Amino acid sequence: MKVDDIEKIAVMGAGDMGHGIAEVALLAGYKVAMRDVEQRFVDKGLARIKESLEKLVEKQKISEDNKKAMVSNIETFVDIGKAVKDADFVIEAVPEIMNIKKEVFKELDKHAPKHAILASNTSNMSITEIASATNRPEKVVGMHFFNPAVLMRLVEIIKGDKTSEETMKLAYDVALRMNKVPVRVEKDSIGFIYNRVNAPNSILLGVILERGLATPEQIDARMKKVGMPMGPYELMDYVGLDVAYHGALYFAERLSSDYKPPKWLKEKVDSGNLGKKTGKGIFDWSQGRPAIDLDKAKEDFDPTDLIAIQVNEATKLLEEGVVKNPDDIDKAMVNGGGSAFGPFQLAKGIGFDKLAKRCEELAKQFGVKAFEPTETLKKGRI
Ligand code: 3HC
Repeated sequence: MKVDDIEKIAVMGAGDMGHGIAEVALLAGYKVAMRDVEQRFVDKGLARIKESLEKLVEKQKISEDNKKAMVSNIETFVDIGKAVKDADFVIEAVPEIMNIKKEVFKELDKHAPKHAILASNTSNMSITEIASATNRPEKVVGMHFFNPAVLMRLVEIIKGDKTSEETMKLAYDVALRMNKVPVRVEKDSIGFIYNRVNAPNSILLGVILERGLATPEQIDARMKKVGMPMGPYELMDYVGLDVAYHGALYFAERLSSDYKPPKWLKEKVDSGNLGKKTGKGIFDWSQGRPAIDLDKAKEDFDPTDLIAIQVNEATKLLEEGVVKNPDDIDKAMVNGGGSAFGPFQLAKGIGFDKLAKRCEELAKQFGVKAFEPTETLKKGRI
């Protein structure tokens, strides 16, 4: 199959990511089938797509006629078999729980046409393991979008152990057609690029709250003052504390116990306060985005701490052979979120020696092994 042969994309899940990916597929001119487990979830996802398309009409990015054509190009389903029966390409965006993913892929394998590619939008999880639930592992690939999918440009294209080169190329070309910036991840490795590089930040942010060293507003105000469009705690709420929690559990299980979710995060998830999607998380979202008071910034919190542990983690990806070219890491980090510069671009300005020293201090101060500087960081050569 070639990229021009793909006419219909089925998206599994109509939540934050599912509806966003379905919208991106519509904008690229595909016919779309969007499926979720209950009618009310599908209806909500469809309403969000219509709202977002309306915004694009208001901004004159698309015409009213374009919008109408896109709305008529999407069908919604609860029945998985009906949703995928004539799809050429399927993108799964269901909760980040391995057993659920595997169940879905088993069903996709059973009902989707033999030629269909099955892609997973997993944030962190093994593509090889997900593919093992199917009889077509060569056609299973990771295709990781970022939230909000309609605005964030990065799509990580992840190769599972058995993914064929043809499948990798198809997923890459579909992402290009969606006007995204695809970056290939050659080795199936936890958190891929973007979430792996950011993972140690979540440890530090977790500890800061656990030990009462600062409030979320103080840190977010500080980070917004240095140019971030969203503070890191607001971003956690925006993406969903359930996503952060399941990600942390997966990292703790597979990479290091340093990633064990902090108690406060578990409590938020257990009490159903998941952030933007439930109206309350770390912040109150009932009136829209939290208003962060920049005057509350904790001036003695050094944003370089977050950069130091990010750069360090990025060097691990090079050491482990997940990415060969450091520029790909910078490209991924710039296009996946709201940063103007990638970690290595920043490191060159700050100095690798300074960052290595800070990583050493942070590792000692918090007793976190994941912060210890790598040989690459210490040598300062990438
Ligand atoms: N659809 C259409 N337009 C949207 C939109 C959507 N879903 N969301 C926001 N917009 C538009 C707004 O209407 C606004 O348009 P305007 O300028 O014409 O008024 C514009 O985007 C900017 O929005 P806001 O003024 O509300 O706020 P910001 O300037 O802060 O931009 C943001 C919003 C683009 C989300 C920005 O805050 C940002 O880049 N945040 C960081 C996001 C990020 O880091 N994402 C990655 C998360 S990690 C992830 O997804 C990985 C996963 O595995 C967990």
